[in-house]
Amino acid sequence: MKLPDHLQYAIDQEVEHKQLNVLSQARESLTDRYRGIKQRGPLITDDQERLSYLLTRMPATYAANVKVWQAIQKQAPDIEIKSLLDLGSGPGTAMWAACELFPSIEKVTLMERDPWLMELGKKLITNSKTDAHAFLNAQWINSDLEKVDSLTPHDAIILSYSIGELKADLIEKLLMKCWQAANKLLIIIEPGTPVGFERIRTIRSLLIAQQANVIAPCPNHLPCPMSHGDWCHFAARVERTSLHRRLKGGTLGYEDEKFSYVAFTKKPCFLPQARVLREPQRRSGHVILTLCTEGLCKQETISKRHPEIYRQARKLDWGDAWEG
Ligand SMILES: C[S@@+](CC[C@H](N)C(=O)[O-])C[C@H]1O[C@@H](n2cnc3c(N)ncnc32)[C@H](O)[C@@H]1O
Repeated sequence: MKLPDHLQYAIDQEVEHKQLNVLSQARESLTDRYRGIKQRGPLITDDQERLSYLLTRMPATYAANVKVWQAIQKQAPDIEIKSLLDLGSGPGTAMWAACELFPSIEKVTLMERDPWLMELGKKLITNSKTDAHAFLNAQWINSDLEKVDSLTPHDAIILSYSIGELKADLIEKLLMKCWQAANKLLIIIEPGTPVGFERIRTIRSLLIAQQANVIAPCPNHLPCPMSHGDWCHFAARVERTSLHRRLKGGTLGYEDEKFSYVAFTKKPCFLPQARVLREPQRRSGHVILTLCTEGLCKQETISKRHPEIYRQARKLDWGDAWEG
C-alpha cells in the first residue's frame, strides 16, 4: 500500500530542498520519544520532526487506517458516513484514508493540539490540488482533547494513534464523550504493541459496558481471550519512497506497520464467526489458521479433504474475517 499519488506529491513539495541529514536526525529523535511513550508532553516538537512525521509515519498510519476502514466496510457495507471527527488528527492522516474509502463523507472536523502540524495538514490539501469538497471545507480546530467539554456529533469519530498520548486517567472521560457524539461509528487505532493492545482491550471493555456494538476486529462481545503477554494486532505493508528509505537508512522497499484497533457501531452489525489473528500458514495439503472465535484463541487446520473450505482458507490473510 502507498499514499495516494496526490498526497505523496503534496508531501514531496513540503520537504523539497530540506536537508536530508537534518530530517534523518529529527526522525531518530521522534522515534526515541515514541519508544519512551511514558514520557508526558508533546512528542512531536519541531518543524523537522513534523516533516519527518509526514515522510516516515504518515504513510504507515495511513495504511493502518485503510485496513481498518476496509474491515468496517466489509462488516457493514450499508453504513453511510457523511461526517467525520478526527481527534488528535496530526496532519489529517485518518481523513485521507476515510475519504478514500467512504467518498460519501462531506464534512470533516479535525481537532489537534499542535497548531503547526495543523498548518502542515492544510498545506497538504492545498499542495495536493484536490478538488474534493470534504478536504477543501475541512474544519481544523486547534484544541487540547484533555480539556474539551463536549464534542459535536458526527457520523464517525476516530482516534488514530492519538489516545495513547493522553493522560491515562482522562481517557475514559473522553471516550464517553466520543461515544455520546458518535452518530454511527467510533474507531480507535493504536500501535500494534503490547502496550497499545492493552489500551485497546481496556477501551473495548469500557465501551461494551456502555452497550456499544463491536464491529471489528472482534467476532463477538465475549471477554477478550488474548492471553496476557500476547497481543492482538494486525499488519499493513507500506511501500517506502526512496526518500523514506534514505531517511531510515534502510534498503527494503517496504515496511510492515503493526497496529491494534477496535471499532464500535451504534446499531448492531453482522459479526463473522472468527477473525484470523496471525499470518495463515499455508502448507502442502492444509492451511493452519490462528483464530479468535467463540471467546477463544485457537488454531484450526483446514485440510484439502474439504476442497471448498480449503480453497477459501488458502485465500485468507492475517486480519480477515472467517466464516469457517
Ligand atoms: C502519533 S500522532 C497521530 C496523528 C494522526 N492521527 C495519524 O494517525 O497519523 C498523535 C497526534 O495526537 C495529537 N495529540 C496528542 N495529545 C493531544 C491532545 N491532548 N489534544 C489534541 N491532540 C493531541 C498530537 O499532537 C499528534 O498530532
